[in-house]
Amino acid sequence: MADRPYTLLSCGMSIDGFLSTRATTRLMLSNDADFDRVDGERAASDAILVGAGTIRKDNPRLLVRSAERRAARVDRGLPPSPTKVTVTRRAELDCAASFFATDDTDKLVYCSTDAVDAARDRLGSAADVVDAGRDISMRRVCEDLGDRGVRRLMVEGGGTVHTQLLTEDLADELQLVVAPFFVGDSGACRFVGDGAYPWNPDRRATLAEVRQIDDVVLLRYALSPRFGTDAP
Ligand SMILES: NC(=O)c1ccc[n+]([C@@H]2O[C@H](COP(=O)([O-])OP(=O)(O)OC[C@H]3O[C@@H](n4cnc5c(N)ncnc54)[C@H](OP(=O)(O)O)[C@@H]3O)[C@@H](O)[C@H]2O)c1
Repeated sequence: MADRPYTLLSCGMSIDGFLSTRATTRLMLSNDADFDRVDGERAASDAILVGAGTIRKDNPRLLVRSAERRAARVDRGLPPSPTKVTVTRRAELDCAASFFATDDTDKLVYCSTDAVDAARDRLGSAADVVDAGRDISMRRVCEDLGDRGVRRLMVEGGGTVHTQLLTEDLADELQLVVAPFFVGDSGACRFVGDGAYPWNPDRRATLAEVRQIDDVVLLRYALSPRFGTDAP
């Protein structure tokens, strides 16, 4: 079995720690300069993971936007954008979602055994549905991605997925962007939920970088000894 990929968690949140509002529309937390930085992180990754909740709420495309970065990937023998990956228990996914759009990327759906047939019916040839067992272990998902050749995994939310990867100590790096406003609604989705985190008052995470990007701030945390070993 291959080692799990270098895993980078990328997230934007409000000053009060929310990823979104309750509204059905996507909340724009970042700015153009930071979106471009995130695009560079995507281009440097082999796969991008989001939870099924993010596909349903935000309908992200998860493609590399810059033509130059796409071309540079192709020059390196890679597809223009990384493989898209999601996890689902219920398989309530719409094959018309942007995640599944026809493009040059592979799509993997790690699905609970009970919903595999439904997922294959709904998604057809739009994605490869992987039977990930009755209870999906994020560690097993990461290890399976490693077996498929993924060396650098970027995780773009949402809160449920971030919570599992952090509490299971599966993250090597956290890139947290703080937007200059409050959401102020405890019913909205937080960056993470309850759990036993490896980083706590007795074991502080390592702050590796602070960078102002126009009106947002990027905080980079080193979460494992592998931090920074992901350079191509
Ligand atoms: N600000 C940002 O950077 C950012 C980025 C991404 C998302 N968001 C926001 O985050 C919110 C979504 O977060 P969320 O926590 O609700 O959803 P999420 O983490 O995107 O996805 C949660 C869903 O993923 C599936 N899942 C996760 N872990 C699983 C496991 N171990 N086994 C099986 N299935 C699993 C389940 O799907 P099923 O329900 O299909 O079974 C679960 O309901 C949205 O409001 C979105 O706008 C913000």
